[in-house]
Amino acid sequence: MLRISMLGSGFIGRFYADSIQGLRSKDKIVSVYSRREETTKKFATDYSCKHWTTNMEESIAHPEVDLVCIALPNNLHEEAVRLCCKHKKAVMTTKPLGRNAAEAKRMLDMVESAGIFNGYLEDLVYTPKSLKAIESVKNGAIGRVLWAKSRETHPGPHSDWFWDIEQAGGGCILDLGCHCVELNRSYIGKDIKPVEVMCWADTQVKPIDAEDHAIALVKYENGAIGQFEVSWTFRGGLDLRDEVMGTEGTIWINSFLRTGFEMFTTGKGGDYIAEKAESNSGWLFPVGDELNELGYNHMFNDMFNALEKGVSPKETFYDGYVVNAVLDAAYKSAKTKLWEPVQLADWRGREGVTKDSHLIEFDADHYLVKEEMTHYGAKKLILKNKKTGKIIERVIE
Ligand SMILES: NC(=O)c1ccc[n+]([C@@H]2O[C@H](COP(=O)([O-])OP(=O)(O)OC[C@H]3O[C@@H](n4cnc5c(N)ncnc54)[C@H](O)[C@@H]3O)[C@@H](O)[C@H]2O)c1
Repeated sequence: MLRISMLGSGFIGRFYADSIQGLRSKDKIVSVYSRREETTKKFATDYSCKHWTTNMEESIAHPEVDLVCIALPNNLHEEAVRLCCKHKKAVMTTKPLGRNAAEAKRMLDMVESAGIFNGYLEDLVYTPKSLKAIESVKNGAIGRVLWAKSRETHPGPHSDWFWDIEQAGGGCILDLGCHCVELNRSYIGKDIKPVEVMCWADTQVKPIDAEDHAIALVKYENGAIGQFEVSWTFRGGLDLRDEVMGTEGTIWINSFLRTGFEMFTTGKGGDYIAEKAESNSGWLFPVGDELNELGYNHMFNDMFNALEKGVSPKETFYDGYVVNAVLDAAYKSAKTKLWEPVQLADWRGREGVTKDSHLIEFDADHYLVKEEMTHYGAKKLILKNKKTGKIIERVIE
């Protein structure tokens, strides 16, 4: 059994608590910290926490706490991590790890020199669909990954601090792009270095200083391309979609809208349909089990098992740092309008991975370009002569 301190009792703190203490779990939130007494007490009552406080350090240092879960606004992650190191408490931090790579690197260095367990709570790589898809890619089901696209768009976040560039550290690139980059890395290979980024970003709708819409391409050292599409101005709910293209196959995942569960209602039921749903009447796309569909259950399972076994979880602060470094390059590129290098002072993956050969041997003299069965019954073979480079076609009737 793990005894947890939850820092933050807001939107994600409650999702996490539902997951951690749901389904007769043995793990327990024993202490909660948040800013206001009233909401902290309410959380403590709802989740039967023995201890609550509006003093962050008191919750972290509480003698019964083994593990701290940081679910605070982005500008408070670093201070919370510092206190976990001071009190030598295992720590898990929600996304994004830092507001930028420098902040993330300081957090990484702190936990590693304190020698404490560190987990990065990137839930979307733990959804049942992602877990299955990533495993299939690892087993070679789609061959060499050429392109991985991840899209997360919604009508905008639910609390004031997200909209303040100082507290949040950025707009939708940081808030949503962090999920997309880690999904793309998981398909392309987390040991493959992201090398440069080209990004378009704009503030198209909202009266804010940060970007509310962005699209970016991330080049990886092995020739694969990652793509992310993020927005705080999308209308219609929470759009979470991934596409992965490989030499031997394709994966399309729709995680939230149109998941195979569609419902019509005149609006006489409850108000809550699913995260960021914009309507509670008409044709709706409910989500059967959000905690599971968003990956929280599998994520905490991995974190807790890893901590108990004394090993690293699948997602660590190091991953959070790499994600921040990619997003820093995206912000820079949006300004300079150029491909910007990903600055990784600490790279722990493979170095110098070149593009695999894409040549398919047909016979001693030819490479195969394409094979096609036509609607008129002829099989066509497009071949390239190895010596002359000439492209020819052979038709087999
Ligand atoms: N899918 C995900 O992984 C996911 C989803 C949403 C949010 N998040 C992350 O979780 C963190 C918290 O986001 P949230 O949506 O729960 O926010 P929220 O506004 O709903 O909750 C913030 C919590 O922090 C507490 N807090 C303490 N000091 C504060 C201060 N100075 N200003 C504001 N709040 C303060 C508040 O009391 C509240 O309990 C952020 O880092 C965010 O990026 C992750």
